[in-house]
This record gives sequence, structure tokens and C-alpha cells, in this order.
Amino acid sequence: MTCVEFTVNGQKCTVNNLLHRDTSLSAYIRYFLGLPGTKAMCRQGVCGACIVNVSARRHTTGEIETFSVNSCLVLVFSCHGWDITTVEAIGSRGLGYSEFQKRIAAFHGTQCGFCTPGWVMQMQSLLPKNLMMIELENSFGSNTCRCTGYRSIFDTIKSFAVDASPELCQQVDDIEELATCIKDRTRICNRKCSETNSEDDWTVLSADPEAVITVHFGDKIFFKVFREDQIFQLFNSYGVDNYLFIDGNTGRAVVHEIEYPAVVIDISAVSSLKQYHFDQNLVLGANISLEECLEIFKKTAATMDDFKYLEEFAKHLDLVAQIPVRNIGSLAGNLMLKHIKPSYRSDVFVLFEAVGATVTIRGAGNFLVSMSLPDFLKYDMRGKLILNFELPPQGPNHIIRSYKVMPRSQNALAIVNAAFNIKINPSTSVIEKATIVYGNISAAFIHATQTEKYLKGKNVFSNNVLQGAISRLNTELVPVDDPAEPTPAIRKKMAIGLFYKFILSIAPISILKPIYQSGGTPLTRPLSSGKQDFQTDSSLYPLNQPVQKLEAIIQSSGEARYVNDIPPLPKEVFGAFVLSTVHNGDVDVVDVEGALDIPDVIAVYTAKDIPGVNSFTFPGFQLQKEDEEVLADTNIKYYGQPVAIVVATSEELATSVARKVKVTYKNVTNVAPVLTINKAKLDKKRVISGDTMEPKGRGTNVRKVIKGVFEVGAQYHYYLEPLSCVTIPVDNGFEVHDVTQWMDLTQGAVSRFLNISESDVHVKVRRLGGGFGGKISRNVQVACASALVAKTLDRPCRFILPLDTNLTIAGRRLPCQCEYEVGVDNDGKIQYLNASLTEDDGFSHNENVLSYVVSSFANCYNTDYFSVKSFAVTTDLPSNTFARAPGTLEGIASIENIMEHIAVAVNKDPTDVRLANMVKEENDLPTLINTLKASAEYERRSQEIKLFNKNNRWRKKSIQISVMLFPVIYYGNYTAMVSIYRGDGSVTVTTGGIEMGQGVNTKAAQVCAYELGIPLEKVTIIPNYSFVAANNIFSGSSIVSESVCFSIIKACNTLKERLKPIKDQMINPTWEELIKKAGDELIDLTATYMMTDKEPELQGYNVFAVTILEVELDVLTGKFQISRADILEDVGLSANPKIDVGQVEGAYVQGLSYFTSEKLIFDKTTGQLLTSDALSYEVYLAKDIPVDFRVNLRYNSNNPKGVLGSKAVGEMGICSSHGIIYALRQCIRESRIDSGYDANQWFDMDLPLTTESILKALNVKNFEFILY
Ligand SMILES: Cc1cc2nc3c(=O)[nH]c(=O)nc-3n(C[C@H](O)[C@H](O)[C@H](O)COP(=O)(O)OP(=O)(O)OC[C@H]3O[C@@H](n4cnc5c(N)ncnc54)[C@H](O)[C@@H]3O)c2cc1C
Ligand code: FES
Ligand code: FES
Repeated sequence: MTCVEFTVNGQKCTVNNLLHRDTSLSAYIRYFLGLPGTKAMCRQGVCGACIVNVSARRHTTGEIETFSVNSCLVLVFSCHGWDITTVEAIGSRGLGYSEFQKRIAAFHGTQCGFCTPGWVMQMQSLLPKNLMMIELENSFGSNTCRCTGYRSIFDTIKSFAVDASPELCQQVDDIEELATCIKDRTRICNRKCSETNSEDDWTVLSADPEAVITVHFGDKIFFKVFREDQIFQLFNSYGVDNYLFIDGNTGRAVVHEIEYPAVVIDISAVSSLKQYHFDQNLVLGANISLEECLEIFKKTAATMDDFKYLEEFAKHLDLVAQIPVRNIGSLAGNLMLKHIKPSYRSDVFVLFEAVGATVTIRGAGNFLVSMSLPDFLKYDMRGKLILNFELPPQGPNHIIRSYKVMPRSQNALAIVNAAFNIKINPSTSVIEKATIVYGNISAAFIHATQTEKYLKGKNVFSNNVLQGAISRLNTELVPVDDPAEPTPAIRKKMAIGLFYKFILSIAPISILKPIYQSGGTPLTRPLSSGKQDFQTDSSLYPLNQPVQKLEAIIQSSGEARYVNDIPPLPKEVFGAFVLSTVHNGDVDVVDVEGALDIPDVIAVYTAKDIPGVNSFTFPGFQLQKEDEEVLADTNIKYYGQPVAIVVATSEELATSVARKVKVTYKNVTNVAPVLTINKAKLDKKRVISGDTMEPKGRGTNVRKVIKGVFEVGAQYHYYLEPLSCVTIPVDNGFEVHDVTQWMDLTQGAVSRFLNISESDVHVKVRRLGGGFGGKISRNVQVACASALVAKTLDRPCRFILPLDTNLTIAGRRLPCQCEYEVGVDNDGKIQYLNASLTEDDGFSHNENVLSYVVSSFANCYNTDYFSVKSFAVTTDLPSNTFARAPGTLEGIASIENIMEHIAVAVNKDPTDVRLANMVKEENDLPTLINTLKASAEYERRSQEIKLFNKNNRWRKKSIQISVMLFPVIYYGNYTAMVSIYRGDGSVTVTTGGIEMGQGVNTKAAQVCAYELGIPLEKVTIIPNYSFVAANNIFSGSSIVSESVCFSIIKACNTLKERLKPIKDQMINPTWEELIKKAGDELIDLTATYMMTDKEPELQGYNVFAVTILEVELDVLTGKFQISRADILEDVGLSANPKIDVGQVEGAYVQGLSYFTSEKLIFDKTTGQLLTSDALSYEVYLAKDIPVDFRVNLRYNSNNPKGVLGSKAVGEMGICSSHGIIYALRQCIRESRIDSGYDANQWFDMDLPLTTESILKALNVKNFEFILY
């Protein structure tokens, strides 16, 4: 065959060499089949937006099974024989929606909705398995959601469990329409999908089903083979110099060194590589998938005593990648990653080596060789095929445990992994053999051989022997320095901690000091739960009604359209940025010719091709102070700045060519880039000053003076929808479909950049896949680039940033440093406070947030004695930008750090210190603290925690109260246009408020329906247009929903006034009758209003929140679990309490993730961002959120200063999350006290509080690792 065949949603697809060989399934589905429901973001198998289901014969079981895969990782040519199902076939407007789609919408599990089809597809693959709640929770390490905070999605998922809790069943019953289905769990989905496929449906037939499939693409070839001998025949014909096997093809996502060479051989259908059997060993075919291997391990461990250890291995494999990757990723593929890159942190290698597994390799001429894994790493694998792995039985005297310390709960590579296997004499406890294997120490390190030798013949359950082993480990573990990884010292600490944990886990209870016991057990996450408590007033409905988000159901079906979902356009081209590889100097030569020589590359543009002003910012617009170049030419500002654009016929080609275009530079100076606030402060030219706060006086009772520095880093927005723009030449101008929170800036900047009039630039936004401030201005660089291509070629241009480019160029939350000196009395009451706040603006001062930092630094405290200065510095990094609660989060976190510092210094309860310093007027926090303390049973839990900490040396718990006062101000202008249609009285609304998940559209519709007195169903929100909401401010700062609703109220008032005379002439008309008459009488049924921040009715106000957080820390690994979070927030009279709960939860989790996980690391000499992918910049996944997550909206609240009594909600949750820093600090402090450190000593902690920072702050000494 010279083509491959498969089906997508039942439709037969045949692909041949007219398609690029390296086309991914995801690109094929989207751009060739025009099915946009399947999204893409990371292209690395991490975010899960691209998940589809596959029904195919599994060679290991011989059965046709349905399983999920990441379509971004699969080559379309590898899909031969598959039946693929995308979200479109699960349910839709036409087909009706599936149960899961309906439930995720009804459970408020969607916000921006960009991630939702991925969750739907992963769930779809699991439905037939009839899983328990705990199993389902564990099955979604494959999906990222940046908006919801996961709780609502977890609830939806668990409602499908065979043991779904009565509460969840009740919720399902409450959802009309679904009520019958919960009783009949078999009726999960009645749509046609791959699940229903049977063997009879199997349609791909060929004369010889095992004939090699060969597809030639000029100088490249794709082969799909079915037997081992075919592989060696290909080697005979094509040589062994330039080939790549692919099975799951997932390896390239983690080892970027792997490139597609001329010959690609797909071996995924070679069934001999997928079988397993037992001789005395377990013989596993090389290419058994990791997920199938996990099942084999579970089954074998349950039935064969000598393989009981496989239970431990199965648990460990569960922490490798995630299900869709494990469904196709193979054992051999994993181990070859370690062969290709010996420093690779393969978990499979660590496990297999701990039991002395061997590998069998086949070479030309049926040559077979078996060897150990360390020998395999040195073996020349050119022209060789791994056939199998042999795992030997381990007798009853073996004790085997394995460990993996990860930066988050799931889907992450190990920071350190380890497997220990000791053969022990049960009666004497003497070790007969010890095997100690570690990963991620260095490329060469495998075994702790000295420690292994030392332990032989010794009883390790003695303090002396244990200390002897630890001291040998301390000598022989020499981790290499890798700037993107935790330091060698910390990795060593972790490795030793794991060994100690292992010994604790196997030591006889009789000898173990009771307080050490819990150190031997892993921190296990129980089933999560959540509670949401709020009031509603049904007399106000649809206002205040917790209705489902208007677009939730179409988000769950993939029908909700985002920018890159515009169907493939005739003659469209794709653009990609070429990024600089220097941080200063000028561009010398861009090898345009070289790029154009590549087939299907259409153009390369540089700064010289720009017809207007080379800038995507617009000095004079709000927040914009200076120009920022779209393409740098001279004076490059940072490593990775775009210098050229490659245009090609496909997204993947444009991206891959852009990475390879040769660019030379001149005038590059050999100075290290300025990457930190401290370094920037040394150069006066880089520093500007900003807002200040002057003290009204100074207290006289200074008993203690406290000094410190608090520093928080950058945060990448991690919106699931990347920065993208589709520009379409239309008539004399351009339709610009930009992912923007600010149409006005896109319009103004594009026209200035292209040197055309603003009226020729029409910006349209339907919705965004998340924004969080990151699409206020940074997107415009992409819009300008896309518009340049569209104008120059007169063709539509699609420009989508790959994640690494997005992370590199798009700006982030501003890092902030707060230096403080504070004098307090004995109660911690501030007598004077001098603080200096410095923000890192990146290379330009655009979107400077100093005013926000300073105003929010006050938080809820009396500022009479506060003296605050603020500064902004420039660094050699992309210009930073707004990120959820820009400045406010940093300001609040800074003052809260000071409060904690004071509490430690004066040895008082931090809440008492806070209360002592709070403002008395207009401050609801003391009341809210008491309310929440009571409902969260704070006192009882505090006592229990005290006892726990006393009884546990290696586990610590803490409970922490945090407070937040968020000052809301109205800012800018928002238009709303309300149109009523005379035919049926239905209404459309279009506004200047961009829907990005915050629910503005739903609230707008609710308010419009409420104001007009009509059912909600009558109102439709249509996209945002720059010609309607002309000159509007960006959607941000939490006030969008309220501002838009204000404009809608005003527009509705105008309409009601116009309708009144007509209504007065009629007797009790229905709405439809009234509108028809008004239409007949030519009444203008369209009204527009633009709210501005000068409206007298709109005044600023404060939002309050209190949070009580409980955490538990594993002192030996630095890992922690958020056991419970209770949040009480005042949202006023909410337009939609369910939406507001979602905002609180999502923002809160985003903050937890920021303060404990998200870290940007740069190469100190080049300025290159080293954490530029989804496995190095780690955001929280579902199992990282609080185990017990409770959100309470304040009762009986009505905000007289807000719109219809409500308060803003979008950013406040993130400003409540700083409590995690202090909860963890308290756990660390407890351990430090046990270690003998001074309880009242304030110790340094680096943020984010990763395992690395935590272990550093704990500073446990090796001599503390004892048994009794
Ligand atoms: C998101 C993500 C998370 C991950 N997390 C982890 C993790 O936590 N821990 C971990 O250890 N790994 C992790 N991995 C790696 C994953 O386990 C591997 O990508 C996977 O096992 C590779 O298998 P594959 O079949 O896809 O290999 P492919 O990508 O198809 O191939 C990889 C390499 O193996 C070679 N190869 C494959 N089969 C053979 C054979 N029979 N003989 C000779 N050469 C062969 C290929 O030529 C190629 O060079 C992760 C991967 C992803 C994408
Ligand atoms: S997992 Fe495929 S795009 Fe993220
Ligand atoms: S709703 Fe999940 S990423 Fe936006």
C-alpha cells in the first residue's frame, strides 16, 4: 500500500503523499477534516486539549479496544486501521449531547471551555470501565484546566463512578433532563462513537494485511511494518544511518533531540513486540504499552508470589506520564530515551534495573543478544531492534520499594526517582544483597555501589549502620548541576531522604521510635470533596440565579468557536516567528534564501518588510508608554525576541522551519543579561520611581525592629488557547480575528503597523480560551505579524504561537521585591513601617503596575504609619504584563509576609497580629474571620494539629487564616448594544466586554432579561465587534461584568422608555405583542450605551475574603498536600453565584500554583528561558488542589456601590491564596523546631515553594535520620 486508511467519526480517510509525512493527527483533524472541536496547546502530551479516542486492535490482548491518545503526538500516517472518534461525534446540536457533555456544563465545569473537549474525550474513553470515584480522579493527570480550579470537573467526573456519592447523585437528579439517566448507568451515551465499534465494523482491508505500507515523500519515506523481518529487510535496502522507529511516537515530546530523519519506520503493529509470557522470568515484549504493562504488573502481582514486587512497580508506572501517553508509549521507547540521552530520568529504567532486568536485542541476520540495562546503555543500537525485557522473580526475602519525587501530583518527570531492593535474612535482619538505584543524579550514575557494598552483611535496623549507609550515600551521590533542575545539594538531600524513608517503611515497628513511623509512609491523597454554600433570591430570577453558563454546552461539544477554529480558508498560509538566539546586538543576516529553498515555505519577512511603524504597542493608549517592536532589527532586547516571520503552507512546517532559520548577529556584546531585580537596581538607568504612600505619623512604642525582603517571581498566564490570530483580507481592509482582551489596541496597532486607516481594520472576538491579562497587549504582536503576512501576500494568514514561543515572548506577571523595616510594639502593632516595592517591568515600562502594588499593599490595615516607595526596573527580558490581579496580588502578599514576620518576632498568633493592625472602619474582616472560624472548626482542628505535630517527626501539619481586602475601582469604558427583533421579541446583546471564561456573557444575558422582564432564553449574546464597541478599554481588572451590565441596564432603560408609550396604549400585552407593535410603528429597537468610569453611580468599593487552609508536609521529600481550604468571600448580591464560585475556585488554585509550583528559570549567561515547555513550567493539575475544597459566598450581602448589588469577583480568589506560603512556613517551622532551630528565628524561603525551596528551608541534617 502507498497510503494509510482509517476512519474519523465513521468517515473513511485515506492519506497519501499529498500530505506532509510529519503531519500530526491533530493537525489533520483540524485543518484537513475541518473538525475544530479537538484543540491543541502544548503539543507535548501534557495539556490534554487534543485528546481523541481510538478504537483499534491491541496487539497485546488481541482485542479491539477503545483508548484515548494525544492527537498532537500521533503522526497521521501511524493511524492505519484505526477508528478515531473526535468530540464532534460524542454529541452535538444535531445529534443531541452526551451525558458527560451535559453534566460538565450543568456542574459548571467549563469556564473558557478551551480545555473541555479534552476532558470529554478522556472521560469517554473511561466510561466503559465502570470505575470507582478514586480511580476516576486518578485518571485525569492527562488534562489541564487553567480556569476552573478543577473541583467542578472532578465532581462531574465522579458523578459517573459506580460508587458515586449520594450528594453527586442528588446533584445529577437535580439536573432536569438527566434525572433518568443516573438511574440507568448503562445509558451513558447513545451517540455513534468508537465505543460501539465491533470487529465487524473493521473496515480497513488489504490483500495482504501484513504487507509493508510504504509512502514516499521525495527524499523522505514512511514505512509501516507488521513483522520483525520486514524491519531488517528495510535496513538492507535503506541502510541504518538515517532512520527512526516510532511506536507511540511520544518520545520526541520529552527528548527534543529526536528528529524525524529521512526514513521513519512505524513498528506499532509488529505484534511479536507486544506479547508477554513467563519462563522463569516475566518476558515482556519490548513495545508493550506502558498502560498495558501496568495492567500486566497488577495481574501478575496478584497471582504470583515471586512477582509480588510488581504491585509496587504498577503504582510507580501510574506516575509515569498519563493515561493517553501510556496507552501508546512503549517500554522500549521509554528505555531508548535513556539510551539516546543518558541523563533522561526514565522511571522504567530505575524500576527494571532494581530487579536486574535484562534486555534482548536483535540485529541483522537474526543475531540476538541479551544484556543488562547498564550494558544496553553503552550498546550501539544502530540497526538494532529491542525484542523484549526479562524481569526475574524475586524470592520472599526481597523487599522492593520505589519512589518518585515529582514537582506536582501527576504528569511530571521525576526530580529524583529511586528503587531499592534488599534481600534480607528475616530472622537476623542482615542484608544479603542491596540494590540501590537512583535517577536524575547524573548521566553516568545508576547504582549507589559503595552503599550497596557497605550494607551487605549488616543489619540496617541500627542507627549506626543506617548512619553509615547515609554517609556513604552522601559521598557517592554527586548530582550534576543543571540550571533547570533543583540544585545538586537538594537532589542529594532528596535521594538520601528517600533511602531513609525506605528504611523507615520496612523497619520493625518494635524498634522504631513512634514519632518516626509516619515518615515511612507516602503522603496519600484521599478522595477529594467540595462544598459550595451561597444564598439566592428566587424573586429576582433570572438575576441572582445560578444558571448554567450560556455557552457551556457548546464548549463541551467543541462547537464553541475560538479564533483558530475558523474553518480552513482558501489559499490560507501559516506564520511562525523566528526567535533571536542572543540577548543584545543587531540582526545581521537572516538566511531567507535557505528557508525559501524548503518546499512549501512561501515567504520570510523581517523588520525591513514592515510598511508602517514597527511596533505592536501604541504609546498614548492606556498602559502604553513606549513602542515595542514586532520584529527586532537593531538593538535586540532579550533572548528569544522575534526577528523574522516564516510563512508556509502548514502550521507544523512554518513552526519547524522557523526554529531552523539561520540568523547571524552583529554588535553583540559579551555581557551577561540583567535578569533580576537586584541586578537591575545596580544600574540607575534601569530604575524609575512610582507611587508612594506617606505616613501620617509614627508610633512611639517600638519594642522590636524587624527587617526583611520578600520576593515573588514571574507567572506565565498559561491560558490554554495560545496567542493566535487569523487575518483575512476583505474588500479594501482586513478582518482581524485576534485572541484579544482589547480590540481597540489590536485595531489601532495593526493600522499603525501596516500604515492603513483604522477603519480598514475590523476586529472581531467571539470568545477567548482564557486570558488572565495575558491577552491585553501581548497578543497584538501576533496580530500585527499575521496582518503583515495577509497584506503582503494578499492571502489569509493564520498565526498560532507554539507553547515555547508563547512562553518566551509573551510577558508574564511582574516579579516583585519588597524590602521592609518595621517597628512594632509587644503585640505586633506597627509603630512605623518603611517599605520599598520594586517591580520588574521586563525591557519596557509598558503595563507598569506600581499604582496597584502600592494601593493594595495596604490590604486591610491601618496605614497611618506606613511609608511606602515604589520602583520599577527594566531587565533584559520580554516586557512583562498584566496577570490576574496584577500588582494587587504582589502588594497583598508583601504586607501579609510582613504580618507573619511580625507574628514570629513577637511570638503571637498571626491572626491576632493582623487584627491588631487592621483598620476599624469599613472593614468586615473581623466578622468574616469569626464566621469562617466557626464553620471551619478552626479551634478544634488547631488543637488536633498541635498534637499531630508533637507525635510526628517527619510529617507536619498546619492551619492558617489569611485575609484579603481588594480595592475595586471602575476604570475605562464599556459599550453595550441591545437589539430587539420585532418578529419574535428575541434580543441580541453585543458589548465591549470580552468573554474569556469569567462568565460576562451569561451575566450580561441575565441582567438584560431581568431589566426587560423577559425569559433568559430570549437573550443571545453575540460576538464583540470593534465597530460596535469602538474605542473601548480592555477587558480586565475584574470589573468587566459589572461595567457591561451597567451599560446594558442603561440601554435597556432607553428601550423601555421608547416602549412605554406603546405599552400604555395596549392592555396587558405579552412581550412579543409589544415588540411587534413597536416594530410596526418603526420604534428604534436598538439601543447603545457606553459606561465610563465617570458615572456618578459607580464608585469604588472593597471586596473581602477570609481563607482557612490546612496543609500537611512530608519532611523527608518536601512534598505537601493541601488537606482542606475554606474560603469565605463577599461577592455582594451575585448575578450568578455558581459562576462566582467558579471564579473564586479557579483564581484560588491559580494562586496556589503560582506560589508553590510555577517557576521561570533562565540561563544566566544567555538569558534563554529554560522552562519553556509544559513539563518544565508546571502548573497545578487536578490532584494538586485542596482535598477538601469549600467555598462560601457571604450571606445577606448587597453592595450599594456596585451594579445591582454585586461585587467583582474575577481576581480576588488569587489574592486569597498567599496563605499557602505561611501554612507551609508553619509546617517547616515545626520541623525546624524539632531539628533544634530557634522557634522565633525568621528563616529565608525562596518562592515559589517548590520541593526544592521547602527542603532548603527545612534544612534537616543527615544525622537526624535515625530509627530510635
Ligand atoms: C507528557 C509525557 C510525560 C512523560 N512522563 C514520563 C515520566 O514521568 N517518566 C518516564 O520515565 N517517562 C515519561 N515519559 C516518556 C514516555 O514514557 C515515553 O515517551 C514513551 O515510553 C516512549 O514510547 P514510544 O513508544 O512512544 O516511543 P517512540 O517515541 O515511538 O520512540 C522513542 C525512541 O525509541 C526507539 N524505539 C522504540 N521502540 C524500539 C525498539 N523496539 N527497538 C529499538 N528502538 C526502539 C525509537 O526509535 C525512538 O528513538 C513521558 C512522555 C510524555 C509525552
Ligand atoms: S496534549 Fe496535545 S496539545 Fe497538549
Ligand atoms: S475552562 Fe479549562 S482552561 Fe479554561
